[in-house]
Amino acid sequence: MPAEQVLDELRALRTGDLPTHGGRTLAYVYDSGRAGLDELAAQAHALASATNGLDPTAFPSLLRMENDIVAAAAALLGGGQATVGSVTSGGTESCMLAVHAARAARPDVDRPKVVLASTAHAAFHKAAHYFGIEAVTVPVDPATFLADPAAMAAAIDDRTVLVVVSAPSYAHGVVDPVPEVAAAAGERGVRCHVDACIGGWVLPYFRALGEPVPDFDLSVPGVTSLSVDLHKYAYCPKGTSVLLHADASLRRSQFFASAAWPGYTMLNSTMQSTRSGGPLAAAWAVLNHLGDNGYRSLAQQVLSAVRTLRSGIGAIEGLRIQGDPQSTLLSVVADDSVADPGFDVFTVADEMTERGWYLQPQFGFESSPPNLHLTVTASNHGSEPALLADLASAVDAARRSGPVSLPEELTAAIAGLDPSGLTSEQFAGLLAMAGLEGAGTLKRMAEINAMLGAAPPGLRERLLVEFLGVMYTPTV
Ligand SMILES: Cc1ncc(COP(=O)(O)O)c(C=O)c1O
Repeated sequence: MPAEQVLDELRALRTGDLPTHGGRTLAYVYDSGRAGLDELAAQAHALASATNGLDPTAFPSLLRMENDIVAAAAALLGGGQATVGSVTSGGTESCMLAVHAARAARPDVDRPKVVLASTAHAAFHKAAHYFGIEAVTVPVDPATFLADPAAMAAAIDDRTVLVVVSAPSYAHGVVDPVPEVAAAAGERGVRCHVDACIGGWVLPYFRALGEPVPDFDLSVPGVTSLSVDLHKYAYCPKGTSVLLHADASLRRSQFFASAAWPGYTMLNSTMQSTRSGGPLAAAWAVLNHLGDNGYRSLAQQVLSAVRTLRSGIGAIEGLRIQGDPQSTLLSVVADDSVADPGFDVFTVADEMTERGWYLQPQFGFESSPPNLHLTVTASNHGSEPALLADLASAVDAARRSGPVSLPEELTAAIAGLDPSGLTSEQFAGLLAMAGLEGAGTLKRMAEINAMLGAAPPGLRERLLVEFLGVMYTPTV
């Protein structure tokens, strides 16, 4: 195919995607709204995309850029002279590497455990699953959604290799009590990781703007590692995160070397081996271009947007913000002070989709009822009134259509399913029963979400894995 035709086809495919710019997609994407920033990043990416971080001696530019980025992250996040780190492909890789490093440093521990506040990102469950570690989840405070330091301390035992808290948690946007938990871990000689993947590049600027941000970074005694994603609030293209360690001795077990084959000695700082210099160079360019002043003014914009949205949403009859979010993330529930709000938040999400906004459904979990997640970014600044007006009208529309009700036979069928033995046929039967055979093309997700919400988490995981298998099946 001629180049132009290939690109036309790609452009046509992209029209079916959620918008990545303009603040209408309130999850997955982070838009600074700054003119020219994407172009700069794309040019920097192109300059380095064919290089390979597999061997930093062959591509010293990558080594230099990575050390620059790690130094910038350490300076922003309370690191000291001894702080070191690595640039990874994203938050999940940083979190997984923190778990791996902690486990690998304790070969003496049989059947290691990682102690997590129950709001910790699923990346830690993925790490536990991949690395054969037991994840011990400690329920958070049911009203504030904050980690409970006493309960976390009580969960630490001789098999614990890592304790994890978030700054902030993705689901509720609250910053865990890091000093208390880190102190408890430190007393037991256990590592403590702060997952600041989403908050790390914005909370320090909020603090500089006078916001009361709780202590959460590497300056807190007992914190041994911290993750911060550049592809979130540093507004860099996808594919970069930083994992910091308080000192080099903590990082050593993260690295991997193998001379056990006849090729080059494989020497990797992260999970990837061949590693494109593209994302790294793009991030380096964006960080240098925006600089402290740029991030401060972007933080000012997002702070203003999140405040306006928070109070505006609280004023919409029937909606409420959960907890006391101190960052850029909001979790919106149907107000339970009203006996029967008469609508379903997942229907509100569908109504918002029809109005051109994406809000992310979150299922009920512990004390958190089904809710909608909003990742607010700098590009939301200025269009808050439009979002709030559409949200109010989406709630009205959801009230008019009433709560989603699932057919009784469907809820009975879900209750009767065993996640460990679920077959593709059972899955297909369930979709048929729900009238959802064309699941991939459905516009209204409320019914699917209601069905998934009715399934216990273990079954939901299995159903979604089945769904993934159906989606990732080529049709040609
Ligand atoms: C707190 C937190 N940790 C980890 C991650 C995982 O990051 P990624 O999606 O870049 O792998 C996220 C993503 O939103 C997050 O919010």
